[in-house]
Amino acid sequence: MLKNVSRRLLQIPESPIRKLVPYATNAIKKGIKVYYFNIGDPDIETPEIMLEVLTNWKQKTITYSRSHGEPTLLDSLKAYYNKLGHTSININNLVVTLGGSEAISMAFLATTEVGDEILTFEPFYTNYNSYAAVNGVKIVPVKTSAKDGFHFPPQQVIEKKISSKTKAILFCNPNNPTGTVYSQKEINTLVSIAKKHNLFIIADEVYREFVFDKRKHFSILNYLSEIPKQIILVDSLSKRYSLCGARVGVLCSLNKQIIDGAMRIAQGRLSAGLIDQLMASKLSKVPESYFKKVHLEYQNRRNTLYRGLLSIPGVSVPNPEGAFYCIVDLPVKNSEDFCKFLLTDFNLKGETIMIAPAAGFYATPGLGRNQVRIAYVLKVEYIKKLIEILRQALPAYNNKLKSRG
Ligand SMILES: Cc1ncc(COP(=O)(O)O)c(C=O)c1O
Repeated sequence: MLKNVSRRLLQIPESPIRKLVPYATNAIKKGIKVYYFNIGDPDIETPEIMLEVLTNWKQKTITYSRSHGEPTLLDSLKAYYNKLGHTSININNLVVTLGGSEAISMAFLATTEVGDEILTFEPFYTNYNSYAAVNGVKIVPVKTSAKDGFHFPPQQVIEKKISSKTKAILFCNPNNPTGTVYSQKEINTLVSIAKKHNLFIIADEVYREFVFDKRKHFSILNYLSEIPKQIILVDSLSKRYSLCGARVGVLCSLNKQIIDGAMRIAQGRLSAGLIDQLMASKLSKVPESYFKKVHLEYQNRRNTLYRGLLSIPGVSVPNPEGAFYCIVDLPVKNSEDFCKFLLTDFNLKGETIMIAPAAGFYATPGLGRNQVRIAYVLKVEYIKKLIEILRQALPAYNNKLKSRG
């Protein structure tokens, strides 16, 4: 008899962001227009200077790049971090990865043995679960809630979740899926916990630039001189430059053992994409005006979405402070069923939306069952459609349930 496939393989969860795709495909086949608010794949144009790398391409062979990363990209990244004020970072502290996704996986592998624990705050970016399963690691959730804007609970509450197996605290700032931007005080708390318990901090800052209402992002990199060996930064160019399909990310640490290990993993998978990296290397030439425009656009989208959602009976959401996501409470018992209904049984003038059920963003069973995550990655005109679709679909769904008895 054939051997069993691995338990770790079977434990990898299906992505709640993508699991309803077959229903969307069917809706499209029936001639319905589907707006994708389920995934953080922005419609904002990639900077012209990056696209020009493609239009001006002359090389006759697409070779591997270096495992460490293309030298021009590494130089641009170093300049980027230095300009943010983190002058201790040089190219030896960076490894270019296949998106932030690979950096997450490397950070998990670098800090844990099979069976170890990583503490994080739920709801959290659901793909952390996949990398935890791949690495045989347990995600231990600390609950945050909408009534506190999903901010961190007090230090004692966090510390209660630390066990002898805890190796790292993982947090995402600005947060996907909640849109929360953590204050300097909150990050101080995490740093003092990490110091007290000798833990690594894995900070996912792929949305660093997306903070609203004149907030300032306070980076974990501000603590590099205080706890240089404990910090691992996960970063990505996907969202910042609308480069999701280019698959370029970064692992950054002043801990030489971690960077050397990440380099050995990088050598094993040869290199990130050459063309992708050459496009990304133009980051230092992207004009400030690009970010100003993008920032304004996201802030408008956020405002339209937030105001619109609050105008729907029974719907509540804390005002998202950053990134481009929010977790929304809906007047339904089973949001996954509702998200499915939107694709299979509902349309407004031939149009509907795809949004992500939130339960998959929690590790604690039963949480998030009345919530959805919305990614406001489409233009204001479509966000207005989303609001009207939700306004009408919610009573239609609840009436349908009632009539079923
Ligand atoms: C919080 C967070 N971290 C990491 C990633 C990974 O993105 P990528 O692999 O495209 O860099 C994402 C993507 O949505 C994300 O939301």
